[in-house]
Parts: sequence; C-alpha cells; structure tokens
Amino acid sequence: MSIRTTPRAGSPSPGTSPAGPEIPDLPLVSARLEAWYPSAARVLPWRSERSGYRALVSELMLQQTQVSRVVERFANFMARFPTLRSLADAPEQEVLAAWQGLGYYRRARFLHRAAQAIRDMHGAEVPENVAALAALPGIGRYTAGAIASIVFGQAAAIVDGNVLRVLSRLADHETRMGDPAAERWAWRESTRLVQVASAPGVTNEALMELGATVCTPAAPRCDACPLAQQCAGRASGRAASIPTPRRSAARRTIYWHSLVHVDERGVLLTERPAAGLWAGMLQPPTIESDTPMDVTVLGTTWGMPVNQVAQFTHVTSHRTVEFTVLVSSSAGTPAIAGARRVPLELLESVALSNAAWRVIECAGVPVKTPLSASAGRRAPRAARSAPTDS
Ligand code: ADE
Repeated sequence: MSIRTTPRAGSPSPGTSPAGPEIPDLPLVSARLEAWYPSAARVLPWRSERSGYRALVSELMLQQTQVSRVVERFANFMARFPTLRSLADAPEQEVLAAWQGLGYYRRARFLHRAAQAIRDMHGAEVPENVAALAALPGIGRYTAGAIASIVFGQAAAIVDGNVLRVLSRLADHETRMGDPAAERWAWRESTRLVQVASAPGVTNEALMELGATVCTPAAPRCDACPLAQQCAGRASGRAASIPTPRRSAARRTIYWHSLVHVDERGVLLTERPAAGLWAGMLQPPTIESDTPMDVTVLGTTWGMPVNQVAQFTHVTSHRTVEFTVLVSSSAGTPAIAGARRVPLELLESVALSNAAWRVIECAGVPVKTPLSASAGRRAPRAARSAPTDS
C-alpha cells in the first residue's frame, strides 16, 4: 500500500484542496464497514425505528453528550414530544424542562427553533438534503450529513472527532484534534468515502460505531477492527498516537454564590439572562463575581443573614464555576427582584440546569433530582465525540 503524505507535484495547492494523503481503496473500506456494522452495532433507542424527526432529536442530543446519557433521556423526550409539531408548538420553557440532564441547553433552543422552521417552511417534514438541513438552526454540516445519510440514504459526509480519528489512522496521517486543516482533510476523505459507498448511511454509522467502540482514543482494539488489514496507522505502529490531542484553551474561573431559600410555598428561583450560560433557565438567586465573596457582604446584598452550607466546582467548556451554596439563618424573605416560588413537587417541570439542581440538593432540600435519578447507573462506555461543525 502506498499513501502519499505530501501533495504530488501538480496537485492543487493548499487552500484549493486540503493537504494530506488519499486513503486507498475506499470501495473496500466502505464494503468492510457495511458488512461489519449489523453484527457490531449497539442497540440504541433511536436506531430501532428511523424517522427524520427521531434523528433530528437524537443527533442534537448527541452533540457533545455521551451516548449513555442520551440513551437515558431520549425515550422520555419522545414520549413528551411524540411528533415534530408537538415540539414546535410547545412553549420553550417546556422544551428546556424536558432537556434536563442533557446540559448545553443552547441545543434545546436550537432543536425547538429547528422544529418550528420545519413546521413553517417544510410542512412539518424533516428535509432530506444536506443544504436544507444545514440551513436550520443548530444544524451544522455533521448533523445535516448524519440525518441525510442515515435516514434518507444520501451520499452525505460526516466528520466528528471519532470519524477524524478513524480516517487519520487508516491513512497514518498525523493530524491534531481541532486543527482546521486536519478537519478539511477529513471532510474530503469522508466525502470520497460516501461517494463510493453502496449504503452511505450504513457506512457513516459504522464509522461512528468503529470510532466509539473499537478505534478508541487511547487503546484501539485493532484485533477487532474490520479495517485492520487496510490500516496504515496499524502497519506503522502509530495508530494509538494519532491524532494528537487538541491544544487546550485556558479556562476562566468564576465564583457564583447561590442562596437556597425554601418556605411552605416552595423554593425561591430567578430567571437567568436571555444570553450566556444557561440562558433563560431558572436558578436559586445567584450573585456572580470574578472573586470569592464574603458571607456578610452577601447577606447584606440579599437583605438577610446567610450561612454557607456547601461548595462545589462545576466545569463547563469554557469556564470553571466555583459554587458557594448558602441558606438564610433568619426568618423572612430575601430582597430579590423578579424572584418567584416554585413548589418542590413542580421543580421537575421547570428548566433547571444540572448545576442548579446540585445547588438545591447541596442545601439539603428533599427533592429527587435528575442527578440523583441517574447517579449510580452507568451505560457502557464509549469514546465521546463532538461534531467538527459546532
Ligand atoms: N454520535 C452522533 N451521532 C450518533 C449516532 N447516530 N449513533 C451513535 N453515536 C452518535
């Protein structure tokens, strides 16, 4: 097998075509993937029955979230919103409430708006082609390609972290995660692959599955791989070290001080701003700061003395949030504009982030949170992957 690692003389310059080797014999690659997939595929709820709407929901959920967590949430969400119209017509707060436990709530808003756009512009039928799909809110090239290929059989490419890793190893191409040039190369190769596939959706799902379960980041199980004989990374002995990890961005630390105040009417909650982290969701009243704040100062701000009862750290993609949880140490209601009471038994029906649930739980409020509901249950682990288009 010969794989070029630099463009040949006369080949297009970088910028017109991404540099990097062409994977040889792609018809054989796709044939082997398609033959392997039926016996290797995990049983996942969105695979039991295919529709554009089910794929739309599951692919949005799977962006940046582990399969095991989506498995826990998908059926409930579909029971709550069984049709695209039921989702499109629902108030946003109900969609956010049903999204609880999945995190990254921006995706729930995008899903809601995508459903409305499909209702209004496509007669409530999920469009079949990549261009129409990619024009919808929250749907990038990866998600559009996944839906178009898996549900509608179109020859549409996909590249996420798993696919980039599989293709890079197959070509023994030393890529780096998050490198735009590597992603351009992977999109080119993925496009070439689906163009020769007899069932592009099966080829794509097999690629995802291989990356998640066999061609894993640290210890690939090459002995179980249907592409082992064609894999240049395996032949060179470099597979496990390709691709190199992404350069990590510096993460900012911020300090949030949250007051949990409960009386017979329920827990006091405020709405977060319409933009930014957990936009529009509810939370216990919280004072945000770049530095930790003194308990006395917090008490003065809220108009009543408070005690600190817990601290925990919540890490998001760009920030480390250091939470301090406080409760009031005297009778009365704190002075907080726009706050409202939500009875404990209705908490599950409002939109609270995982962090807000944890704040409430830390204060000892007797609620069954989505966090405690899923704690201790572990679905099989697989490599997690993020689309390269988000
Ligand atoms: N990750 C993203 N899309 C997926 C899918 N359809 N099946 C399994 N994992 C995925």
